[in-house]
Amino acid sequence: MSVLADEFGREVTGVRVSLTDRCNFDCVYCHNEGLGDTRGPMDPQDNEMNTDDIVRFLEVATEFGIGKVKFTGGEPMLRDDLEEIIRRTPSEMEVSMTTNGTFLPGRAEGLVEAGLSRVNVSQDALDPKEFAEITKSGAYDRVIEGVHAALDAGLDPVKLNMVVFEHTAGYVPEMVEHVAKNDGLQLQLIQYMPELTGKPEWNIDIDRVHNWLSEQAVEIERREMHHRARYWIENDDGDGRGMVEIVDPVENPEFCANCHRVRVTHEGYLKGCLNRNDDLRPMGEMGRDEIRETLRETIENRVPFYGEYMVRSGDGGWEMNDKYINA
Ligand code: 5AD
Repeated sequence: MSVLADEFGREVTGVRVSLTDRCNFDCVYCHNEGLGDTRGPMDPQDNEMNTDDIVRFLEVATEFGIGKVKFTGGEPMLRDDLEEIIRRTPSEMEVSMTTNGTFLPGRAEGLVEAGLSRVNVSQDALDPKEFAEITKSGAYDRVIEGVHAALDAGLDPVKLNMVVFEHTAGYVPEMVEHVAKNDGLQLQLIQYMPELTGKPEWNIDIDRVHNWLSEQAVEIERREMHHRARYWIENDDGDGRGMVEIVDPVENPEFCANCHRVRVTHEGYLKGCLNRNDDLRPMGEMGRDEIRETLRETIENRVPFYGEYMVRSGDGGWEMNDKYINA
């Protein structure tokens, strides 16, 4: 079957599957994949999709030509069956994961053997104290070890995710130098999204980061298709360079116009947009027909958040499009 598109012409080529909303960190900025802060106990919960549910969904997604899956959470590595899930993911799918990195030492190699091909590790600081303030965790050294474990296992390049907000904006230059100095690392600067966290006062002006990087860069790659610029930065010693990308979705219609993914919550609901919680659809009792039907419906009903679901209001802010108010 060919790839499905929504009525805005956006093809769905990837899925982002949350395996659990449990996490051993408590990052102050966390939107928990659009569900807000719902963290509870650390032990496995019955509301989570089981291994078979996840694999069945991925098999159906493959029928729809969806070629990429990213596992996320919560912390996806809290699932003991992660290796099995990856091993059973259809071979046509490219598998990546976003993790806080603490469980990579000792497990990275097995994940690669199971079929993992890329990893993003959340790393918001280069100092244990600053790290602890943001993540409410003392696991800084474990995370650094985890990044090394991933590199040793061949997961190169490892992308470091750094959320840029009030607490971290001052460390951007250090992080950029860090990836420019260390082979195998790339940096993904993620604009803090206040939509689901209720703390707009932490916003920073992402254009300043773009401008600063443009000045630092020895090369800037602008790829039409991806719309994200890649900045190549040389390190202070002049003997190496690193790649830095900015993910800036906030109030950005261009970002939404280029969104090609749907999400699955840990409880097995399809979700068409990170910023919306009024478009969740349960996949029935996880029968293949129900999954097919629900996936098709989710894709058909997808709407770009900025520019369509939310539109510019008279005062230059954003308001909900009338069309969706009682829809
Ligand atoms: N704004 C931007 N990025 C966020 N992440 C989590 N919460 C937010 C937020 N409010 C990112 C982190 C993490 C990834 C799963 O989501 O970078 O690595």
